[in-house]
Amino acid sequence: MSDLETLRSQLQQAGQSHLVEAIERSETLRAAVASVDWAAVPDLIARYVRARPAPPSGDLSPVECVCADPTMASGGVSLVDEGALRGRGEAMLREGRVAVFTVAGGQGTRLGWNGPKGTFPASPVTGKPLFRLFAEQILAAEARWGKRVRWYIMTSAANDAQTRGFFLDNRCFGLDRRQIMMFPQGMMPAFDAASGRVLQDSESTLAMSPDGHGGSYAALRKSGALDQMEGRGAEAISYHQVDNPLVNVLDPVFIGLHADETFSSGEFTSKMVRKSGPDEKVGVFARRDGRVGVVEYSDMTPQQCGQTDEAGQLCYAAGNLAMHMLSTAFVRRVASSGDAMLPWHRAEKKVPYWDAATETRVEPEAPNGIKLERFVFDAMAHAAKPAILEVRREREFAPIKNASGVDSAASSAQLQSDLYGGWLEQAGVTIPRREDGHVDAAIEVSPLTAMSADDLHGCTLPTKIAPGSSFAC
Ligand code: UTP
Repeated sequence: MSDLETLRSQLQQAGQSHLVEAIERSETLRAAVASVDWAAVPDLIARYVRARPAPPSGDLSPVECVCADPTMASGGVSLVDEGALRGRGEAMLREGRVAVFTVAGGQGTRLGWNGPKGTFPASPVTGKPLFRLFAEQILAAEARWGKRVRWYIMTSAANDAQTRGFFLDNRCFGLDRRQIMMFPQGMMPAFDAASGRVLQDSESTLAMSPDGHGGSYAALRKSGALDQMEGRGAEAISYHQVDNPLVNVLDPVFIGLHADETFSSGEFTSKMVRKSGPDEKVGVFARRDGRVGVVEYSDMTPQQCGQTDEAGQLCYAAGNLAMHMLSTAFVRRVASSGDAMLPWHRAEKKVPYWDAATETRVEPEAPNGIKLERFVFDAMAHAAKPAILEVRREREFAPIKNASGVDSAASSAQLQSDLYGGWLEQAGVTIPRREDGHVDAAIEVSPLTAMSADDLHGCTLPTKIAPGSSFAC
């Protein structure tokens, strides 16, 4: 059979005969069609397009977490020895056993930035892009622990070329080009909700979107990134999202917890912050039928969200920060499991599509399409003995998701100034504060200057910062 005939028969068997004629007219479309795993499509349509999968069921129970900071440990959280974990994590870093992994394949539709999200100017004074802030942390870690750190970045077909161009234009922010590996994640076609047909975006393209951050497992394996990590002795992967300028990309305490067999099998370790209240819309760590995982806010009843223990504390308060430590062996195991460990999640979306009958591109006014994504944390339920570390929200979390309001560039800039203003105060600088307690200045501390308040001792600093002014060091 010729390639074209094979494709035709695959399409017909997958119930996609509307594409048969179209691939004869367009070679570009033919190539796009050839990249899809059509054998899997009928099952996906039956399970996720024609049917709405039932929400996860099973008994929920709270999960045990640990905390390394004696000033914040509270009910349900056990205190662990910060110094011992730090020592262990630092040893891992000195031996080059940890790789940084940034997932940056998302579409960033809510932010509406014209470019990959990692190129967004995120720091409050100098407007450093997110990628530069992570690169500076890696440079600081290399200087401190004396070992090269390898950086893996997952992109998507839509932003890979732009991301590579941005790094080259910026000379990789001072890193060696050879220590960075970028690779695109998998793509999934969007389906017409009514008919189950795969939608075209234009006469010569399919409507495709990235397959979710859960696509990391397959992409890490397929790209050769896993082989490279293991070949170079890095068996622990520090996973983080691209949209948080305060993420600590190499946290020795977190790495130490992951490596300590008393607490974790070393397969999957996570960070959490306590939910601000029962209504905060964030996934929480919990046990479902005994297995630890992340339960989405939308899958919990108001009663579960508000349930409290004898001490009056929320039972389900361990908010997922999307910061994980994974072992390369675990990633390999998940990547090889196919659908068994990572279910698909369906999202009803407005998907613009090419209407072959009228030869026009239609912008729907209501959701018409189904997109399918996988989530990285779904694999946690399959990890042996996962550990969860409670951390301070104000130290680690200032996400940029939206163009304005909550989790926007403006709210993130304030959170960054609040954190760095606090560091400067600890170093003896007078910092202006508004009545609500927030810092009344734009303040930025480069990771190359300090990774914590303690690192600022010995730096030349002003005695005070004027209200409404800017300061960067
Ligand atoms: P989000 O859930 O915030 O999605 O991704 P998004 O696509 O970036 O933004 P919206 O929802 O369209 O506004 C969380 C993290 O997961 C990555 C993103 O790049 C971000 O770091 N991600 C998400 C991927 O790498 N691939 C995906 O398919 C989805």
